[in-house]
Amino acid sequence: MRVVTIDQGFGLENLKLSERELPAPRPGEALVKISAASLNYRDLLTVRGLYNPKLKLPLIPCSDGAGVVTAVGEGVTRVRVGDRVMPTFAQGWLSGEPSREKLGSSTLGGPLDGMLAEHRVLHESGLVAVPEHLTLEQASTLPCAGLTAWRAIFDHGGILPGQWVLVQGSGGVSVFALQFARQAGARVIATTSSDEKAERLRAMGAEVVINYRATPNWSKPARDATGGRGVDVVVEVGGAGTLEQSLRAVKMGGRVSVIGVLAGGAGEVNLIPVLMQDVRLQGVIVGSREHFEHMCRAIEASKMVPVVDRVFPLEQTVEAMQHMAAGAHFGKVVIQVQ
Ligand SMILES: NC(=O)c1ccc[n+]([C@@H]2O[C@H](COP(=O)([O-])OP(=O)(O)OC[C@H]3O[C@@H](n4cnc5c(N)ncnc54)[C@H](OP(=O)(O)O)[C@@H]3O)[C@@H](O)[C@H]2O)c1
Repeated sequence: MRVVTIDQGFGLENLKLSERELPAPRPGEALVKISAASLNYRDLLTVRGLYNPKLKLPLIPCSDGAGVVTAVGEGVTRVRVGDRVMPTFAQGWLSGEPSREKLGSSTLGGPLDGMLAEHRVLHESGLVAVPEHLTLEQASTLPCAGLTAWRAIFDHGGILPGQWVLVQGSGGVSVFALQFARQAGARVIATTSSDEKAERLRAMGAEVVINYRATPNWSKPARDATGGRGVDVVVEVGGAGTLEQSLRAVKMGGRVSVIGVLAGGAGEVNLIPVLMQDVRLQGVIVGSREHFEHMCRAIEASKMVPVVDRVFPLEQTVEAMQHMAAGAHFGKVVIQVQ
């Protein structure tokens, strides 16, 4: 079978396509024929050695994918041959609160091998059924990006119809957050650097779209759009570089769900608005299998379809990563594994 590994060292130039023996499932495990994998910003950081430079190599990158069960080991009851499944991001986090024990060494795409392989053996407990109406390419986008957005909007955000959500940019997490927020009946303000993407965000239901390059002080028009009150939830993917604006845009008692670091992971933050405005800064780390199943149930009911920007073949993994690195995408970049 073909696999892509980060091979001799970090860097896109060290991604290698090679052959490996087909693995066999042991008791409790399933062999999954991987059809598609999707890229997350984390995968790019991992390949570049910026996520965890101590990761053991060679490593198969990419946490997210979807495929079909082709064989099961002894005692497997959760899945059957022929089932369409997705792996959970953190294989050890089944339910409840996150903990070091549940997450520590159980995340796919580092330290555990990820989805850029034609077949993967995974424990049955780390698999979730694909919503029926989705293709495997679409489903491959759900485990990390979809679930993180879901949790920011529903679990942590507790969003209600009529409330305001602010999403930043048009990447994987943000487009999912826009979709979930609209489904919840919330009103959405989106930021983007591109006028063309602004049109697409509007078409998807963003009521207000602000170009964050042309308007670096975007919190002002965002706040104005809410009648001066501020938004209920900010889905913060920019990190240190955008937090100040987010804190100005959020309402008193609102929530900033801190997810990403696209505009920097460290920097000076003025915490005074946090305490004076009673703002909740909430970190989000993907979600458990239980969260994932809740999300899939909702997606199945609403027939929501993830936005796939472009599909690359496995042998063009480097091009796919470059496409993502350039910020040229809208929604998710997918790799067709086979
Ligand atoms: N905590 C977690 O569990 C978790 C889970 C998933 C992702 N993340 C993190 O969340 C972030 C987003 O991940 P992703 O996979 O969705 O990334 P992505 O698809 O690569 O998002 C890229 C897009 O983000 C937008 N962007 C970049 N800088 C921005 C800025 N300063 N202000 C507003 N938008 C900006 C751009 O949109 P435009 O082109 O429209 O300008 C860009 O195209 C990453 O930092 C990732 O590591 C964290």
